[in-house]
Amino acid sequence: MQDAPILIIGRNAKTGWRVDRRLQALGHMTRAVSRSTTPTFDWQAPHTWREAMAGTRAAYVTFHPDLAIPSAEQTIREFVTLAAELGLEHLVLLSGRGEDGARRAERVLEQSGLDWNIVRASWFMQNFSESFMLDGILKGELMLPAGDIAEPFIDVDDLADVAVAVLTRPELRNRVFELSGPRAMTFAQCATAISGVTGYPVRYTRVPVERFLDALRAQGADQPLLWLMHELFTKVLDGRNSQPTSGVVEALGRPATDFDDYLSKVVASGTWQRQSARASA
Ligand SMILES: NC(=O)c1ccc[n+]([C@@H]2O[C@H](COP(=O)([O-])OP(=O)(O)OC[C@H]3O[C@@H](n4cnc5c(N)ncnc54)[C@H](OP(=O)(O)O)[C@@H]3O)[C@@H](O)[C@H]2O)c1
Repeated sequence: MQDAPILIIGRNAKTGWRVDRRLQALGHMTRAVSRSTTPTFDWQAPHTWREAMAGTRAAYVTFHPDLAIPSAEQTIREFVTLAAELGLEHLVLLSGRGEDGARRAERVLEQSGLDWNIVRASWFMQNFSESFMLDGILKGELMLPAGDIAEPFIDVDDLADVAVAVLTRPELRNRVFELSGPRAMTFAQCATAISGVTGYPVRYTRVPVERFLDALRAQGADQPLLWLMHELFTKVLDGRNSQPTSGVVEALGRPATDFDDYLSKVVASGTWQRQSARASA
């Protein structure tokens, strides 16, 4: 079994490909899956799970869209049952801080009888550069229904390092690692910091949650995503997660990456360069 691959669910997700790349660099066999791979893995289609999971020894599990959604607990229960039946030894679940639904899904893992880890993370810094906030930044106006609540954003490169550590170091098993960046920042402070490195202004505008949801609806967002955004912005982002945590130090013995260092990486990647600047470069 030691030669069997490590399964990564979420090949194209922000953490999945990073975990995959790191494990391969260390010489581990991996099988990274999602809806667009062969074999296919689709959370919405349980008949796809068995083939994707069979013959693997451990799994890094990212649920989509988010463990906060009400159906997540039951889906994770079915997934864990199949993992045990197929002989997987160790499951590592990516989870979110302060989410009631995520906590229920975590308990399923903790009570599974398999080895487990929970990697429970704050909001990702990479939401500003690889996700739903990127468009607003490139347009110079980040519009969100978030006030002065500070969030200690985590760099997903740190998160991937922790996931690899728990997958490869047996002494870290059966523990929760609660991960955040080293300092909490409001969205307005993040926009100001991003303005300072992009060469163009990025303004933060707080909008009422209903207006934000209407805009998402107009862009074709489905009901589960609308529910999730409402939950995240009205409940989870109420200050309960503002305190930074020590999970990165506990797992890796080094401090978490600061927002300023994340900014330097994104600037070097060119992600925040506007098209006109790219064309004339
Ligand atoms: N973003 C945050 O700030 C944050 C913070 C804490 C925790 N989390 C947790 O992170 C997880 C999401 O990770 P992420 O933000 O990294 O995801 P993401 O980048 O948005 O993941 C997108 C990828 O997921 C795959 N996917 C979509 N629907 C799928 C389905 N039904 N079955 C299988 N794969 C599917 C897609 O690849 P294909 O098209 O190839 O299927 C897509 O490329 C959630 O569980 C959330 O709780 C997120």
